[in-house]
Amino acid sequence: MNIRQITSVYFSPTGNTKTVMELIAGQLSDCPARLDLTGPGKRPEYHFLENEAVLVGVPVYGGRVPAVAAERLKKLHGRRTAAVLVVTYGNRAYEDALLELKLILIRQGFRPVAAAAVPAEHNIVRSIAQGRPDKQDRKKLKYFTRDLGRRFWELESNYRIGDLKTPGSRPFRKYHGVPLKIKAGPSCKKCGLCVQNCPVQAISRTDPKITDSERCMVCMRCVRQCPSGARRIHPVMLLAVKQKLKKVCAERKEAEFFMV
Ligand SMILES: Cc1cc2nc3c(=O)[nH]c(=O)nc-3n(C[C@H](O)[C@H](O)[C@H](O)COP(=O)(O)O)c2cc1C
Repeated sequence: MNIRQITSVYFSPTGNTKTVMELIAGQLSDCPARLDLTGPGKRPEYHFLENEAVLVGVPVYGGRVPAVAAERLKKLHGRRTAAVLVVTYGNRAYEDALLELKLILIRQGFRPVAAAAVPAEHNIVRSIAQGRPDKQDRKKLKYFTRDLGRRFWELESNYRIGDLKTPGSRPFRKYHGVPLKIKAGPSCKKCGLCVQNCPVQAISRTDPKITDSERCMVCMRCVRQCPSGARRIHPVMLLAVKQKLKKVCAERKEAEFFMV
């Protein structure tokens, strides 16, 4: 099938997923469209046709698609539009995330044709999988994308929806968030960058030092973007998470790819 337009859609608070999506989309098309679902604010409905393809990328939170991303993906509407699913994860596990993403997209009218689960730097404990996706990952992504380009051409319009096999099982894992709080320290200059960019508007407009911990999903975007390094998780809490993750994240996980 001649794909008329490729659109890269992603939710990526700290940029790992965006990096992977750029690598894939950039190799597939000279001018892919981009739809960044990370920031706050209202969005319109987005409609895609059968002769288009979407690449959809999200990070893994607790082995699942982040709830906020799942909600925003409901704005996408396909007409049997081919979809490529991408999850990035911090070298622990991606568990049900790919399966969940696949089911969301099928419900929205897309035809999942390929999927990738790509290890990336853990954005809470950054020493885990530091520097990933690395040279080896990029090489694998390149091969995957090359095969994908071919597969797009071969796509027959009559294959059954749901043919793409991905790991994961139902009922999905329960995920209730991480027991961490992000706080602003005395070096906060109240510049408001975190307020503008928080995906869920959890930071007070009048006093950016106040974070609504019920709303905050600990995506780490504000910590990463703060120009004065004022926002952080308490070092003792961070150390505890690091200790907990150390064992399960020690072994290098490799990127996995799936295709119909
Ligand atoms: C709240 C939260 C939960 C996470 N849960 C997992 C997980 O279950 N498994 C894993 O390997 N990494 C996990 N991570 C790490 C992220 O999936 C990983 O760093 C991802 O690449 C971040 O993507 P982004 O930079 O696009 O935001 C989690 C990160 C956060 C912030």
